[in-house]
Amino acid sequence: LPDAQVIVVSNREPYIHNLKDGEIELIVPASGLVSALEPITRACGGTWIAYGGGSADRLTVDANDRVQVPPDNPSYVLRRVWLNQKEHDGYYLGFANEGLWPLCHIVFTRPVFRASDWETYEAVNRKFADIVVREARNQRPIVLVQDYHFALLPRMIRARLPEAIIITFWHIPWPNSEVFSICPWREKILDGLLGSSIIGFHTQFHCNNFTQSVDRFLESRIEREDAAISYGGQASLVHAYPISIEWPPALLESLPPVADCRRAVRRKYGLADDVRLCVGVERLDYTKGILDRFHALEDLFERHPEWIGKLTFLQIAAPSRGTLPAYRRLHEECVRCVEDLNRRFGHDGYKPVLMVAEHHSQRRVYEIYRAADLCMVTSLHDGMNLVAKEFVAARDDEQGVLLLSTFAGASKELLEALIVNPYDAAMMADALQQALTMPADEQQSRMRRMREIVRDNNVYRWAGSMLLDAARLRKRSDTER
Ligand code: G6P
Repeated sequence: LPDAQVIVVSNREPYIHNLKDGEIELIVPASGLVSALEPITRACGGTWIAYGGGSADRLTVDANDRVQVPPDNPSYVLRRVWLNQKEHDGYYLGFANEGLWPLCHIVFTRPVFRASDWETYEAVNRKFADIVVREARNQRPIVLVQDYHFALLPRMIRARLPEAIIITFWHIPWPNSEVFSICPWREKILDGLLGSSIIGFHTQFHCNNFTQSVDRFLESRIEREDAAISYGGQASLVHAYPISIEWPPALLESLPPVADCRRAVRRKYGLADDVRLCVGVERLDYTKGILDRFHALEDLFERHPEWIGKLTFLQIAAPSRGTLPAYRRLHEECVRCVEDLNRRFGHDGYKPVLMVAEHHSQRRVYEIYRAADLCMVTSLHDGMNLVAKEFVAARDDEQGVLLLSTFAGASKELLEALIVNPYDAAMMADALQQALTMPADEQQSRMRRMREIVRDNNVYRWAGSMLLDAARLRKRSDTER
């Protein structure tokens, strides 16, 4: 695709400027989408269009709402879009995060569908469509539409840039057609997405669910052999592209050796040098199974009291969507659960569980991965989960054990992790016991294999295979002209 302009569209921006104590602070948000797309956009150049949600975002753009990023070594343009309170609440908090997010994750949180949120969602998608068209230098850009915030955007772009290649990636699961059918605007969502040239999911399973939903609710032709859907005179490819991370992660080079990270992190959290450290790192979200891992710890301490005093679980929980009731409730429940565990199993300043509900820089997070003996990823349902891959990438010493939920897409690739069912506390406690007693050579062979997998299937491969498919489509349409 020589010379084609790349335009990325997502809700979350890769760099947030916030005002803190009168100074401008730069934050890289906790978002799997951002961790994956940022290195790709850095490599391709182009324009990233996203909601400017930081309190100092308006202070750092030029007259066209653009800022060059990454700030220390600019290689692409971040075009910020401003949303007013009503737009933010209806489109982002409302329809995207109280409607589509629980709809697509099977975690038994009832989706909330409000007609007013839907209208705002539609209006904000239109607002982004206008900006994509304005930012496009010609009729044939490659537009990379990201995630469930923009189900209607592909169709809207297609209407105004008929020759664009539109690749839409859905970063979260797609439910089966029965579950999807409860969405009052299901046909409109499917129609919107089918404006794309390519629709990507993490797994074949989610592709099948999507295709089944289209088959059930739209008059379309499904070409199973070619994994394509023809609808309204146009075809869309539906493919699985498992997302990943940059390899090797750029910041790894500047991190201290594992032994130094171990000491520094233990010192920071007041842990004795010989205490085993188990970590969990995520946004404070009810899909991540944070309470479930606390229950597993409780079970472990009850059945294996020898670990009391010798094991600390550190939960890094980035605050997320905190104004929504479901997220507030989860936060409160987590705090209660941690207090309860510490009361029951803690003594003389020893706390079995520490929860730090604060944003951490990627650098800090990687230091923590390197300091840990094991990492727990216990999502109840997750598209891919990049924490699992980051933990593996951080461990160039080939030590450390990963406990990984069978309901995260990553479990289909990282087979050498200890795969667990997060709904089964006893099974997770057994896996914790296995991890804590795993010999170093077994840790090494499992970690080595997982590192090879993440190295080979890195995020450049993810983007590369989508762009290759896009190039084939463009070639075909050019010869048909
Ligand atoms: C998930 C979603 C992303 C989102 C991220 C962080 O990974 O798939 O689209 O950016 O969560 O959530 P937030 O609402 O803070 O952007």
